Amino acid sequence: MVSKNVQDLMEKMTIQEKIGQLIQLSADFFQGDNVAITGPLKEAHLGEAALYSAGSVLGISGAQTVRKVQKNYLKHSRLGIPLLFMADVVHGYKTIFPIPLALGASFDPQVMKTASATAAKESAAGGVHVTFAPMVDLVRDPRWGRVMESTGEDPYLNSVMAKAAVTGFQGTLPLDQNHIAACVKHFAAYGAPEAGREYNTVDISEWRFREQYLSAYAAAIEAQALLVMTSFNTLFGVPATVNQHLMRDILRDELQFHGVLISDWDAIGEIIHHGVAGDLQHAADLALKAGVDIDMMSFAYAKYLAKAASLDPQIEQLINESAQRILILKEQLGLFTDPYRGLSTERETEATLTTENLDAAQAAAEQSMVLLKNSHHTLPLNTATAISLVGPVADTGDILGSWSWQGDPDQTETIADALAKQFSNFTVMPGTQYHHVQFSKLNDAVNASRQQETIVAVLGLPASESGEATSMTDITLPAEQLTLLRGLAQLNKPLVTIVITGRPLDLTEVDALSDAVLLAWFPGSRGGAAIANVLSGRVDPSGRLPMTFPRNIGQVPIYYNAYNTGRPISGTPADDENKYLSKYIDVANSPLYPFGFGLSYGDFTITDWTLSQHNVTPDQPLTIQATIHNSADHAGTTVVQLYTHQQVGETVQPVKQLQAFKKVSLGADQTQTITLTVPYDQLSTIHSDLHRSTDQGDYTVMLGFDSTCTASQPFTVAHQ
Ligand code: BGC
Repeated sequence: MVSKNVQDLMEKMTIQEKIGQLIQLSADFFQGDNVAITGPLKEAHLGEAALYSAGSVLGISGAQTVRKVQKNYLKHSRLGIPLLFMADVVHGYKTIFPIPLALGASFDPQVMKTASATAAKESAAGGVHVTFAPMVDLVRDPRWGRVMESTGEDPYLNSVMAKAAVTGFQGTLPLDQNHIAACVKHFAAYGAPEAGREYNTVDISEWRFREQYLSAYAAAIEAQALLVMTSFNTLFGVPATVNQHLMRDILRDELQFHGVLISDWDAIGEIIHHGVAGDLQHAADLALKAGVDIDMMSFAYAKYLAKAASLDPQIEQLINESAQRILILKEQLGLFTDPYRGLSTERETEATLTTENLDAAQAAAEQSMVLLKNSHHTLPLNTATAISLVGPVADTGDILGSWSWQGDPDQTETIADALAKQFSNFTVMPGTQYHHVQFSKLNDAVNASRQQETIVAVLGLPASESGEATSMTDITLPAEQLTLLRGLAQLNKPLVTIVITGRPLDLTEVDALSDAVLLAWFPGSRGGAAIANVLSGRVDPSGRLPMTFPRNIGQVPIYYNAYNTGRPISGTPADDENKYLSKYIDVANSPLYPFGFGLSYGDFTITDWTLSQHNVTPDQPLTIQATIHNSADHAGTTVVQLYTHQQVGETVQPVKQLQAFKKVSLGADQTQTITLTVPYDQLSTIHSDLHRSTDQGDYTVMLGFDSTCTASQPFTVAHQ
């Protein structure tokens, strides 16, 4: 339903004004009170008119600045159509939450929802209307730096998290002033670049795309995400941004997406490099025909649509459709009623960096940390233990991670400072920088460690080595840091390694050298405090891996929901005697740490589990009841995970597919019975005709604490 207001505007607008709505410019176009035709405008060969007709801007925030820019803009807008402010508010605004991959590791959609709702509240108070999030690209390749922005390798976990993020950012529609519109990205399959190299070709079959990649985008759209962003990559041989099959048939028709489709940065212009458009005019034509409403920073629409519209009524019609969608979005944001959305510096101050927000960020960090190894109960540590704290990340605020442009590492409490609040006796000596070492300093750190009881090494990568444009081919820790760790390991003292990273790393040597390994990701504003709480045992690290950690780079891509081959290994010694199996000759097939894995300070077992009935139908979901026991003498938290496998299908089936999970916290020697349900439709798969349906037949359900679980029970599926 199009409102009267939007209809009236559409009638009054000139074609040039409508095209203006389709143009997004970056912040630097709007700097200064009197915009002169210099700088960016000149470089882009655009006039002042383009600036004041552009419908949206990206990257401007701050209550005062946004008010000023909006006011000035409205002075020039003939019909008083407000400017739309968009920005990348990804894992927090001023209060930084753990990176999205870590939020995925929480295995708790409420954590993602709270993170997104907090980011929305803070950034809305800072004048942001639309966030370029959530990023829901399924990822399997840690060489690709942007895995940190995703929630991982699993279609189901990603879908649950996508929904939680959209609901957190937007609240319940209609949007109120504490929420912002979500833009799900990057449509589609940006997470599968060949060889993990940024912006590289994606070539997966449509069957596989639909089977694994599409569901998280679909979940975000079902949760009513108001925008979608195109991706840089090609898919099915055509760049996604101009791919009509992807954008028209799949996004608009099948997924019923009626909101605004925005290109990624200059993605329309890049079609020329892809070799699918001869020039920018051609690129503009292809993008509009694919249904891209907003051109982010390629200027193709600004330069060529007016002429194209005058020659071709179809182009004019498409411009009308796009302009109308953008006006509807502005209306949904309430901008026609209040172009400032209640902005004030007082509200901004009150809403940002509140104790409540920071506490939520800390809780999220605690829930997302993954304990990868804990020999002989090395952790938790007694707070009176004499600790030697070493490593390049021990005493730096660089723990926020990429896409935290409003966060300030210099104002962020370091891990050393946070530890000092709980541990009475420790020394800090980094020993090495991330990629550079002075051997005298390294020796000092090793010697200092000799005097202490326990060593805590905080190793990892800086934020600048994760996120966009940070592909790498070697995913071991830098040699300098491994040299330090080897030196420390020789001291034969309990050695705890904390890893700060935005991607899975090859931790094979780290695991071998350390007694305990805690994966803290980039934990955000209160990451230090969260780490201190985990080390002291005040909280149980309850994160579980949302991506498989390989033994080495050669295993990549490696993921749990793989297909059996015709020559699978059995996992028994017999495998060694048969050369012609699907295996490596130099390393096991299994990863170092599997998907879903993570240890707890508790000691959990599933004592009993039963299926409500062994036959699943459209009316009768798969329902299991499981009794979980914590036999430790202290509380703990675990994640119960349910996987299924279809025995025989028309197409190949993954060896295991996550279908449900539940985070369970239990006190000492406590027991709890939980119920997990999988609806009939969720058991559906994509058939060779590319349609999704649930097959009748035999299945197994597996239950456990990670993706290697083997306890299984059979069930059957019938159509009724
Ligand atoms: C990224 C997007 C981001 C956009 C705007 C692009 O380079 O791929 O994810 O939203 O820039 O900052």
